[in-house]
Order: sequence, then C-alpha cells, then structure tokens
Amino acid sequence: MDALFITFEGMEGAGKTTLARWLSERLRQEGIPNWLTYEPWEPRLRELLLRQGDLRREEELLLFLADRAIHTRHIRMALAEGKTVICDRYADSTLVYQGYARGLDIAWVRQMNQFATGGLQPVRTYLLDVPVEIGLNRQRERNRIGAEEIAFHERVRAGFLAEAQREQPVRTYLLDVPVEIGLNRQRERNRIGAEEIAFHEQVRAGFLAEAQREPQRYLVLDAMRPLADLQNLIWADISALQGSNLFARSESESSA
Ligand code: TYD
Repeated sequence: MDALFITFEGMEGAGKTTLARWLSERLRQEGIPNWLTYEPWEPRLRELLLRQGDLRREEELLLFLADRAIHTRHIRMALAEGKTVICDRYADSTLVYQGYARGLDIAWVRQMNQFATGGLQPVRTYLLDVPVEIGLNRQRERNRIGAEEIAFHERVRAGFLAEAQREQPVRTYLLDVPVEIGLNRQRERNRIGAEEIAFHEQVRAGFLAEAQREPQRYLVLDAMRPLADLQNLIWADISALQGSNLFARSESESSA
C-alpha cells in the first residue's frame, strides 16, 4: 500500500486522540507500517505553547509554524520510507485556532502554512465534530478530581501539618485548607466561562467552514456517535483510500 498522510482535527474533547491511536494500532495489526504523531511536536516548543498562558497571538502563530516546519521534514521522511503518517492536529488547527478563533487574517495564515509545510497536505482529514459544551465537559471530565488525586493531596496536607508541628518555635505559618475545598477552589477558577464557549464556537465553525471548502479532503464525523461506529466509518474510508491508490499530495498539486 502507498504511504498515506492522514490527520485528525477537531476541538479538545472531541475524541481525536483516541481514534488516532486506534487507527495506528489497527494498521499495525494489518501489517501496515505507520507513524502516529501529533502537533505541537517539538518538546520545547510544545512546552512553551501549552504551558505558558500569556503568549500574544502573533507569537503563538510563529511558534506553531516553526514547530510545523520542523515536524513536516520528519513527516516527509517517514512517508518516503513508506510509512503511513497519522497526525493528531496539523495545519488546519493553525488556520482555525489562530485564524478563525484568534482573529488573525485567514488568507495570510493559509499562506504561512503553505510556507511552513512546503505545501505538504494530508490526503484525508478526519474532523471530529462535537457541540462545544459537550466537548468542553468531556475534557473537564477527564481532568476531574479523582480519589487518587484527593489521597495525594491529603498526604501533602498531612505532611505540611506535621512539619509545622515539628518546628518549635513556629517558623512555618501554614495556610491550611481541607483538601476538597482547595481542589474545588482551583477547579472553580478553571471553570467554563462564556468567553471560552464563544472561542470554541468559532473553532467549531472554522473547522466546518474548512471542511466545506475542501470536501474531497475532509471527512466530517459526528463525534457523538458510538466509538465503534466511528471506527467502522474510518476503516471503510481508509480501505477505499488504499484502493484508490492516493499518495500524500505533493507541492505541485496543492493550492496556496
Ligand atoms: P493538544 O495537546 O493537542 O490538546 P487536545 O488533545 O486536547 O487537542 O493541545 C493542542 C492545543 O493547541 C489545543 O488547544 C489547540 C492548540 N493549537 C493551536 O492553537 N494551533 C495549532 O496550530 C495547533 C497544532 C494546536
């Protein structure tokens, strides 16, 4: 089979990552060599992009593009070795998050993507579409307070209290709070606000607009459907792609 370049896109909580992992494993079982990867990719850029909350949108754009330029070089190498590449987010995420949602000029972001990738485009993009509040709740659910986390913070609290008792005269002024109240305060600070919902509505609308613009590349999947249905749809599509003998589109074919 020819090496295919496949991407998964969608908002957080849509289930991209689960399906990308499943596809990689399924291909492996069929004896099809593949590389499962994601963006942001380069560890130091990923750390900078995902951990630092106060980047300006221009800074963010340039870092995502720098990351993509490096990553694309590795994707090309994998494809040249005959490996199918499955990427969790790619250029469409920049178009949608930095363009549609953060408000940078969309046509210009498109050109910048072209510049960073040298025109490498996936043959298929699976867009996992989900209503915003459901996606955000799924994501929150994933981060919810588990028994283990509570137990861990109980040990942290007990440790601080023990240390405070040990120190005579008192050197430590302890700001003590019951664990669940502390964790809930923290959660409260991270709760879903109207602004966040509006932002993700733009992300969702942006992805759907792009899917309409390029219907031959995008396959829009309703992420509310059972996982097994989504897997069947993707597998049927991959089988058809293999049959139709498509390569990752090269520079000359892709439009700017
Ligand atoms: P990621 O770890 O992929 O989160 P998730 O698995 O929940 O999607 O984090 C990627 C985050 O970075 C996500 O909020 C989308 C954002 N992003 C952009 O804004 N632009 C981009 O070009 C890329 C690749 C990601």
